[in-house]
Amino acid sequence: MNTHELIDTARELVAGDKGLLAMDESNPTCNKRFAGLGIPQTEQARRAYRELIVTTPGLGECINGAILFDETIRQQKKDGTPFVKAISDAGIIPGIKVDSGAKDMAGFPGEKITEGLDGLRERLADYSQMGVRFAKWRAVFAVGDGIPSRACIEVNAQILACYAALCQEAGLVPIVEPEVLMEGEHTLERCRNVTEEVLRTVFSQLYTQRVLLEGLILKPNMVLPGLTCLKQEGVDEVADATVSCLLRAVPAAVPGIAFLSGGQSPELASARLNAMNLRFKSRLPWALAFSFSRAIQQPALEIWRGQDANVSAAQQALYHRASCNRAARRGEYNAAMERT
Ligand code: 13P
Repeated sequence: MNTHELIDTARELVAGDKGLLAMDESNPTCNKRFAGLGIPQTEQARRAYRELIVTTPGLGECINGAILFDETIRQQKKDGTPFVKAISDAGIIPGIKVDSGAKDMAGFPGEKITEGLDGLRERLADYSQMGVRFAKWRAVFAVGDGIPSRACIEVNAQILACYAALCQEAGLVPIVEPEVLMEGEHTLERCRNVTEEVLRTVFSQLYTQRVLLEGLILKPNMVLPGLTCLKQEGVDEVADATVSCLLRAVPAAVPGIAFLSGGQSPELASARLNAMNLRFKSRLPWALAFSFSRAIQQPALEIWRGQDANVSAAQQALYHRASCNRAARRGEYNAAMERT
């Protein structure tokens, strides 16, 4: 393990006012999003869409790193340029999703365990050869009556730490993603408590398994009321709850926190990230950045709809969302940006 290289890469991923672009939807997830818009669910369509993303003019002005899926990392642009090279040429660090998805947890209805540790050491070595410098693994925690259970939290935390240790051994920076889901009627306070317990457990396991905190990035959910909770707090209350939870649970040695968007609207995700940076940035030990998939991509996908003629307009929409989030890192995002 080259400690200096890991630390440098982790810092680069959250450097300046840029963030990460998650474009690592598995084929079933990507197909589901395509199906909703009448786009064919084929390898060619997924390739064309990913080419649209990586060739977006100016993307590197807002994005430090892009997370790819296994299919995409093996694909090329129409002109034969591998996507990994196209991304690197744009000044963006290529990364890769390495978990194989969240599966039902035996004996714990409604809860999931993320799989993919078998053969991971070999896969990480292969990906490293292909030029990636960081990886991602997502664990999910549903909130409901009696869940998440202690068992679900502990087992996913152990697996996340095991993955992170293997990444660092291979010289790749692990993005550690424990996601407390938005679905449900739970309150903001419940989400804060669950998120704090999950993060404390994850960091305890990272410590136990000797993972270098300076060489990883945390990718958590924001602290939010459940989607169907009657009380939906405002942007500032969400910012306060999220930052106070993170301050309690995330060691200062971690260089950066890059949020997932989790199904928030693109505008709300930007506004909430903005409020956190505006109110707290100068007092925080880590960078507060973004690693959005839907909150950056969805408007572009809705414009593209699989049509070549729409590529340029879709790229403008993608760039717009990426630049709104860059502004949010500086605490300079405002609603007027959405009308330009
Ligand atoms: P969303 O921003 O759409 O939640 O996706 C982030 C991600 O990478 C999920 O693993």
